[in-house]
Amino acid sequence: MTESGRALRISVLRHNPNDPDSEPHIQTFNVTETAGMTLFIALTDIRENQDPTLQFDFVCRAGICGSCGMLINGKPGLACRTQTKDFDDEIMLAPLPVFRLIGDLSVDTGAWMQRMSDRLDAWLHTGLTANVNALEERMEPALAQEIYELDRCIECGCCIAACATAQMRDDFVGAVGLNRIARFRVDPRDQRSDADMYELIGDDDGVFGCMTLLGCEDYCPKQLSLGTQIAWLRRRMVIASSRG
Ligand code: SF4
Ligand code: SF4
Ligand code: FES
Repeated sequence: MTESGRALRISVLRHNPNDPDSEPHIQTFNVTETAGMTLFIALTDIRENQDPTLQFDFVCRAGICGSCGMLINGKPGLACRTQTKDFDDEIMLAPLPVFRLIGDLSVDTGAWMQRMSDRLDAWLHTGLTANVNALEERMEPALAQEIYELDRCIECGCCIAACATAQMRDDFVGAVGLNRIARFRVDPRDQRSDADMYELIGDDDGVFGCMTLLGCEDYCPKQLSLGTQIAWLRRRMVIASSRG
């Protein structure tokens, strides 16, 4: 049989927490595979032709917005960047754990990311008053590239869904939060010291809660070097704490 035209069975863990009569259950849909079919296309086909109540999130369909994270055969991934041809004809989909369930495959990553950002004061601390008329400061291309690399995170939540610590500790900032701190730490415009950063991530909800099993890096769809950033931050935080 060719890839196109396979009969797929796509099972979805369904639940609407806003409906008191809703019980979590698995519903299976039959879908005919088309060439280049992604899970986004398959789910849209289901919603348009079989069940308009199926809930899932998509915005960009290009791996940029981070809204389509879900568990695909038990592993976190972006549905818009996942092709059905890479799987057997039975595929199981479930919402990302840790985040508040909105319904079916839709979760509220935004509230989680906002809470993490607030806790980490995740903005540039220059100590300067903003002057919209001033020219931008010059920066060496290599340094700009280093910051850009860390800024590629799309806040999809896959690293959190893959993280055992995040499932045990409600306030753990996760690899996404630690990567954010690394981003500000390498930026010379940010005036915060390692001691300041220690106040933010020097505990079990920060870098010392990480078990370094690297599920985050394994499932980051942007291939960020999360393990390297976490190890780098941990060394800096140990030194910061030893200096009192
Ligand atoms: S670090 Fe990777 S997996 Fe985690 S939120 Fe950012 S892009 Fe997604
Ligand atoms: S290495 Fe740390 S942050 Fe990454 S998944 Fe494991 S515990 Fe979570
Ligand atoms: S829809 Fe934007 S990342 Fe998948």
